[in-house]
Amino acid sequence: MFQSHIAGVGYYVPKNIYTNTDLTRFMETSDEWIQERTGIQERRYADRIGETTTTMGIEAAQIAIERAGITAQDIDFIVFATLSPDYYFPGCGVLLQREMGMKEVGALDVRNQCSGFIYALSIADQFVKTGMYKNVLVVGSEKHSFALDYSTRGRNVSVIFGDGAGAVVIQPTMEEGSGILSTHLHSDGADAEKLAMYYPGASGGIWLENQPNWPDQELGGMLMTKEMLEDGTAFPYMDGQAVFKKAVVKFPEVIAEALAKNNLSTKDIDMLIPHQANLRISQFVQKILKLSDDKVFNNIQKYGNTTAASVPIALCEAWEQGHIKKGDLVCLAAFGAGFTWGSALIRW
Ligand code: UT7
Repeated sequence: MFQSHIAGVGYYVPKNIYTNTDLTRFMETSDEWIQERTGIQERRYADRIGETTTTMGIEAAQIAIERAGITAQDIDFIVFATLSPDYYFPGCGVLLQREMGMKEVGALDVRNQCSGFIYALSIADQFVKTGMYKNVLVVGSEKHSFALDYSTRGRNVSVIFGDGAGAVVIQPTMEEGSGILSTHLHSDGADAEKLAMYYPGASGGIWLENQPNWPDQELGGMLMTKEMLEDGTAFPYMDGQAVFKKAVVKFPEVIAEALAKNNLSTKDIDMLIPHQANLRISQFVQKILKLSDDKVFNNIQKYGNTTAASVPIALCEAWEQGHIKKGDLVCLAAFGAGFTWGSALIRW
């Protein structure tokens, strides 16, 4: 068995900055409300045309690949995590493979929302550990801005999310005790509808109470209708308080699980990179784990919640700013829609 490690990291955020005050042009909200409840000051939105989840993923991947000292031709497997793919199908992995001129390698898309990057990292880890692949590209990328309700009706969701991408290259390492020590993945579908985008979907609305959009024909017609856009059911739905309550329990739990697996304690953590869901969630977790400010990295203030991209963007920024050094114990953790959650413990 090999041990795998992160050989290169990269991130990309679009140039278009939207402050909280900018959002007041579209909806009834305020800088004060958003900052107080979420810590977010601004977020980035991709260009409406030309910039996609895949193109942002490519920007991040190019940096990670270069830092890993390889070329796109050396990548032997792609894992692409996103909830906002360019197409309903096929996934972004194959689009990235094509655009980066890679060999005909396997490309897998992961649909685990906020914990998508941890799931993707875990998959890459298993492939490298067994010796099947040597250079696995893991990407988390999101273009949320294309499908949010920017009216007052959708403000509880739309103010939170932003666009961006992060990527890592996973390679085997011979250095004993270094690299990815373990990953831990969980799900509980009991609350699947509490944070979801129901359409386009094949459920026919069976999950939704008071579903107003039953098809008026026996077959077809339910993927997306004009009415769904008008009544708001086409947009993501979130019961924010339910998500918050579960997140503050599951984050510490899955971090403790990773530490216990490796006979370590919270005192051993040099840097915790939590999924940037809400600054208040990160602060809550920090308090429960009794970690000092310099041991938790947050950048949600600048980028909002970028879902599958948030952990690799934060990891890359923390590393670029010198907050992660060789030998450090780095813990990644995420929680989100599904609900799904996970953690990864890394000896850098
Ligand atoms: O990435 C993983 C997934 N997501 C999360 O982790 C999110 C977890 N949840 C949260 O972060 C919080 O629940 C939110 C920030 C989304 C919302 O905060 P909250 O304290 O739970 O607010 P709320 O939804 O209970 O709404 C409180 C009030 C409501 O007004 P009334 O009914 O009390 O008059 C909302 O209409 O705040 C209102 N409100 C807003 N006001 C101004 C909701 N969104 C906004 C807004 N601006 N953007």
